[in-house]
Amino acid sequence: MMTIPFKHKSQQQRQTDFPSSPLDDEEDIPSNPSHNSTLNAVIEQRLSRRDMMQGLIAVTGGVATGLSAVSVTGCDQVQVSPSADFPSFRFPEVVAGVDETHHVADGYRADVLIRWGDRVLEGAPPFDPENPTADGQAQQFGYNNDFLGYFPIDGRSDHGVLVVNHEYTNDELMYPGLGSRKTRKQVIRGLPEPLVRASMQAHGGSVVEIKRSGGLWSVVEGSRFARRITPETEMRLSGPAAGHELMQTNADPTGRNVLGMVNNCAGGVTPWGTWLTCEENFNFYFESGGKNVADVPTTLHRYGIPTSKAYPWGKFETRFDVSHEPNEAHRFGWVVEIDPFEPSSKPVKRTALGRFKHEGAGGVVNRDNRYVIYQGDDERFEYVYKFVSRDPIDLKDLKNNRDLLDHGTLYVARFNDDGSGQWLALVRSDPRLNHFQDQGEILINARSASDVLGATKMDRPEDIDVNPETNRVYVMLTKNKERSKHGDKITNASNPRSKNAFGHIIEMTPDDDNHAAETFSWEMLVRCGDPEKPDVGATFNPLTSKHGWFANPDNCVVDKFGRLWIATDGNTKRKTGRSDGLWGLETEGSVRGMGRLFFRCPVGAELCGPCFTPDLETAFVAVQHPGESDDPRVLATFEAPATRWPDFADGVPPRPSVVAITRKGGGKIGT
Ligand code: FEO
Ligand code: CA
Ligand code: CA
Ligand code: CA
Repeated sequence: MMTIPFKHKSQQQRQTDFPSSPLDDEEDIPSNPSHNSTLNAVIEQRLSRRDMMQGLIAVTGGVATGLSAVSVTGCDQVQVSPSADFPSFRFPEVVAGVDETHHVADGYRADVLIRWGDRVLEGAPPFDPENPTADGQAQQFGYNNDFLGYFPIDGRSDHGVLVVNHEYTNDELMYPGLGSRKTRKQVIRGLPEPLVRASMQAHGGSVVEIKRSGGLWSVVEGSRFARRITPETEMRLSGPAAGHELMQTNADPTGRNVLGMVNNCAGGVTPWGTWLTCEENFNFYFESGGKNVADVPTTLHRYGIPTSKAYPWGKFETRFDVSHEPNEAHRFGWVVEIDPFEPSSKPVKRTALGRFKHEGAGGVVNRDNRYVIYQGDDERFEYVYKFVSRDPIDLKDLKNNRDLLDHGTLYVARFNDDGSGQWLALVRSDPRLNHFQDQGEILINARSASDVLGATKMDRPEDIDVNPETNRVYVMLTKNKERSKHGDKITNASNPRSKNAFGHIIEMTPDDDNHAAETFSWEMLVRCGDPEKPDVGATFNPLTSKHGWFANPDNCVVDKFGRLWIATDGNTKRKTGRSDGLWGLETEGSVRGMGRLFFRCPVGAELCGPCFTPDLETAFVAVQHPGESDDPRVLATFEAPATRWPDFADGVPPRPSVVAITRKGGGKIGT
């Protein structure tokens, strides 16, 4: 994907042309001006840490309604040892390449479960691409499905609730008649109000009840759990920054109530049965109404606000115009906690986890039963964070964890070149941070507080996941072509490439297997890209086939067998000769660093949200932005998409969709 070089403007406001391709490169715009170096606990026996970690607890009710039924599900014996000296992933490898449809390993089937525009709420109108409306979209499945979480009902692996993030919209692909414009920026900025309002409703999240029968998954119509969450859903702010002066607006003088969430990328599932959904590029929804950048609070610049590339929401809703309501932007960029079983419950923005461009929330129950969440801030030269809860999880009465995420410590990572690392606490008691008025202000400005502490500027930290058995933590660093620019000339051991087009994966190990510890060690798991090209410098295991290597790791998940799955964002025909997809990546023994391609996307799409049912017999994946152009010089449109996946019908645009992958004849995935 093409990144157009920056032209420096006043302050830190930077201008790019709008790439024809996605917001992905927008995630790439650095706003970090700092000179930092660029550089089986005693858990109730009936709950294994791995099941806790992966949210495999059976829940029959939500936190808000008094969640009570807890049982372990899917506790089959581990059949695949991740420490074995042979591949733990067993499936016939997919041939890498790019074409108009998806491909899964032989012996598996991949069926579309739900598509953009499909009915979520009872009474939703049928998908009608020629006549998009905000009201219809508010009841239908949103655009650009990203994070997926499966919550079993009564412990079942064939009946559950699926939660889905809808990150952003590709309006140029969604709506007819916009294709005469030249750039994506022009398309978006020129959208008429009805389409802007329809697109707003395509953001947020969906909750659907799903069931498997006769081997096939389908959405349960008229479910009591069905829910659409949008940028207009009433939400609560909680934790240290709730009610802060910087959170107060004309519409909400309390600073405790906010409407909606935006750009929800990846997320997490908590052991107490809630969905964590993470606001990432929230700056793209805020503009300055023509006001000079210099007149906008400088604290917003650190988050890339205002931007000339904003969705034009501010034209029609003044709260998204920072010249009218500067504090509204402080109310976005958080991790949102949602009870998936209670459609009337209010989502809660947990400010203790900090404000930045959250990719995901990779949680683990620490050996002392405190809950630890690893988080990436996805922008070039931003940081890796973790949150450590103050209190242990109450495993006996899960509803007692409903406010667990309101109290704890946020840390930011420093990676030393010798393979050691420190977690630096973002707390007001640190004298270097006493220029902040209080803890709330530190959390609202987590980036600039981290600058002061000397955190390590990374190559776009995306998803992070933990193997709760080995306590290894996997950090996806997707790419950063700009390390040699913008004053960050120096590479370092944790970000070793000056033009990192392909990304890398770091493995962290907390000291003493204690995720609350302030020190850790780390090593490079793999430098991505084509191992056959010496100038790429990729470091996959030599046993990796020509299909098994990948670039641009984005989402990841550790399955119940401890195996690491990687979903990518950024592979194209031109760049790597392959589409994005899902790879298994060995982490142990002599096969460590060996990749294996399991599923690949149709052209233009990235893969998001891999998640598994507790019995590991189904993998759900989210195919995001199919039909974008594989060539960044060409803008794909409604009339001329790169593919019409998955419907392949004239006049029907490509549709981001969730796909259910199962094994023909039954069985566990990849075994
Ligand atoms: Fe929304 Fe960092 O991917
Ligand atoms: Ca994307
Ligand atoms: Ca992502
Ligand atoms: Ca990405």
